[in-house]
Amino acid sequence: MEQLEPTLAAIAAADTIEAVEALRVSALGKQGWVSTLLKSLGGMSPEERTSTGPRIHAAREAVTAALGERRNALESAALEAKLAAETADLSLPAPAAPRGSVHPVSQVMDELAEIFADMGFAVATGPEIEDDWHNFTALNMPETHPARAMHDTFYFPDKDAEGRSMLLRTHTSPVQIRSMLSQGAPLRVIAPGRVYRSDSDATHTPMFHQIEGLVIDKGIHLGHLKWTLETFLKAFFEREDIVLRLRPSYFPFTEPSVEVDVGYTLINGKRVVGGSGDAANGGWMEVLGSGMVNRKVIEFGGLDPDEWQGFAFGTGVDRLAMLKYGMDDLRAFFDGDVRWLANYGFGALDVPTLSGGVGVRA
Ligand code: PHE
Repeated sequence: MEQLEPTLAAIAAADTIEAVEALRVSALGKQGWVSTLLKSLGGMSPEERTSTGPRIHAAREAVTAALGERRNALESAALEAKLAAETADLSLPAPAAPRGSVHPVSQVMDELAEIFADMGFAVATGPEIEDDWHNFTALNMPETHPARAMHDTFYFPDKDAEGRSMLLRTHTSPVQIRSMLSQGAPLRVIAPGRVYRSDSDATHTPMFHQIEGLVIDKGIHLGHLKWTLETFLKAFFEREDIVLRLRPSYFPFTEPSVEVDVGYTLINGKRVVGGSGDAANGGWMEVLGSGMVNRKVIEFGGLDPDEWQGFAFGTGVDRLAMLKYGMDDLRAFFDGDVRWLANYGFGALDVPTLSGGVGVRA
């Protein structure tokens, strides 16, 4: 038992958990001296065993207790040291708030996609660099058509391989042609995207955003158009008191053509969409161009107009955003001023859903 005192002294002097563990193995491990002594009890005479046995058991308990005590002491010292090293400096500035926000145009496009997806519309796209056949000719605006001049088109100096003039698309309507040609009928698409016109003032920028809608099917009539636009505007402005007024108009690619006005109410001098435009404090404003797709356009789309009919509509996404969220200068949309974005932008997680509300503010 001469090992007991040195073992207890070594345990008391151990300064790491690993050293304590090594001492445990050397005493209590399979080959340890305490275990060896315990094993030797079997070969002793009963008298020897009664005198030696209790001393060996006492030694084992003393070593076990010393090991536990030393391990606890070392562990709490380690914890103290860790806590001392990991102080939190409460005088440091708070972490920066999340930066960046979703531009209102992106937000409104997402809202529109969500609303129209619910009505069975897919999203279609087309190139911003277009040729004049898709942008004009196939939309029933032949080369000499006066409507071409009204579009203030940005042309490229060179023609494409087929001799077509290249331009920046002036509206999203060429996507009507591209969708019919690539997908055939029946068809239900919206096409949001950038369009370009050489025009610039408080309500016009050389680049702006439109959304096009096109439905091609059998037996489609103006009633379908009116229902669709009414349902869309109610969902978008999130109110039931949306009153539409359809006015006869003219677009080369629709026949008949209708311009859609929505009633607004004057509240503190501001036009707020909703209510009848004929009310004392109300008025009408134009929000959409639309109509039944011209037979010629259906033909240019590769379809038989005796079999397929449809309606189309187009409107400005920026303008819809201004009407819904109350900005009054279109140019600010494209200034890239982060203060404007911080004010009008949307949180990245503020995803529009029909169940959660399509336009919840961040
Ligand atoms: N493309 C027209 C515009 O830019 C809008 C429109 C689209 C009108 C579809 C009727 C049908 O003004």
